Formats: sequence, C-alpha cells, structure tokens
Amino acid sequence: MIKIAPSILSADYAALGDEIARVEAGGADQIHVDVMDGHFVPNITIGMPVVEAIRKRTRLPLDLHLMVTDADRYLEAFVRAGGDALTVHVEACPHLHRTLGRIHELGARAGIALNPATPPAALEYALDGADLVLVMSVNPGLGGQEFIPATYAKLIDVRNRLGDRPLEVSVDGGVKLEHCRPLVSRGATTLVAGSAIFGAADPAAEVRRLRAAALTAIAI
Ligand code: DX5
Ligand code: ZN
Repeated sequence: MIKIAPSILSADYAALGDEIARVEAGGADQIHVDVMDGHFVPNITIGMPVVEAIRKRTRLPLDLHLMVTDADRYLEAFVRAGGDALTVHVEACPHLHRTLGRIHELGARAGIALNPATPPAALEYALDGADLVLVMSVNPGLGGQEFIPATYAKLIDVRNRLGDRPLEVSVDGGVKLEHCRPLVSRGATTLVAGSAIFGAADPAAEVRRLRAAALTAIAI
C-alpha cells in the first residue's frame, strides 16, 4: 500500500481546516504535521492547540513530525491533542529506545526520522521499537526546498536494514511528481509532499497525480 501524506507546512495556515478538507477529498491517506521548536530547526510552527483544532476537522490520521530538541517532554500532550503517529529525530533523542516505548505506551504509532547526513546505521538497535522510518530528503526546517538525490541510495540501505520487519518507510522533503516512481521502486511506502500539493492549482488533483505516479512503480 502506498500512502500520500500532504504536509500542511505549505498550506494556508489561516484556512487549515479547508485546506485539509481539499486534500482529504483528493484521497490523502494522512496529514503530515511539521512541529518545529526553533531550536532543533531554525523555524517555529505548530503546537498542541493547532493539532487539537485540526483534529476536530478531519478523521484522517495525524502524522506528527517532531523536529524538536526535547521530544520526551511533549509526547503525552501531542497524543492528547490528537496525534496518531509521533515521529522523533534520532539526532535529538539520546534515549531513543525509551522514547519509542513511551510513544507506544501512550497508544500512538512511533516513528524514527533521519536527517540527510545521518547514516541508516543509527537505526540499527531501535527498529524493533518503531512502526515507521522517516527519511528526510531535505535538511529539515523549511518547505519548498530541493530534493536531495542521495536519498535514493539511502532508501535502499534503509530498506535492506529493515529485513522483513513490517515498518513503513516515509520520504519527506522536496518530493514532486517525478520522484514518486523512483522512490517507491526503491522501497518507499509513504510519500510526504507539501509545496507540490498545496502549491498546485488543484491540491486534490495533485494528490491523485502523485498516487498514480507512485503506483506505476508497483505495476512494474
Ligand atoms: C521540512 C518538513 C517537510 C516539508 C515538506 O522540514 O519536514 O515535511 O514540509 O514540504 P516540501 O514537500 O515542500 O518540501
Ligand atoms: Zn516533515
């Protein structure tokens, strides 16, 4: 199964509920919510109150990407606010094994994110505690950046390390139509896209286009 996850970082924040309804109408599988603390990354975005607000506007799973330095402090509050999956950065979690366990205790799905320069080996002893791996294809902190081509080789490496573990593999950052098929053919199962979707004239149609392109990799 291929999932398309619109990232609302590129949506109109003054009309988030409507923007989400548009991509939901296009068949989006989940909503990617970028939480930035201005410390781990040079930007400040969404906190619990906004997650609570969008929780009331959609039944789609909320996939929270926590780009924060002290994730442990906020896990419970983000799950309470409505987060279905919490993804933390391996670079910001010294006690990753415990953090993943805590996310599960709270009843949410747990994800591990890797910055572009972080080797997949960092996942080695944490994979059994995770439901998904998020491979960053840009340096986190902004939408609308250029996709990093080295992501293709990294994806194959990550996929090999998973073995037969049923983890989802997400790719996040600069994903456009032309990246969908090569990403899926190298093992990606979830494609996060922000500017490609919310920058399009018709975001619902763009969700469908990205899925159609991704599915051509499976039809091979
Ligand atoms: C970047 C975020 C991404 C970003 C994706 O730090 O984690 O989710 O919003 O947006 P695009 O697809 O525009 O790069
Ligand atoms: Zn993200």
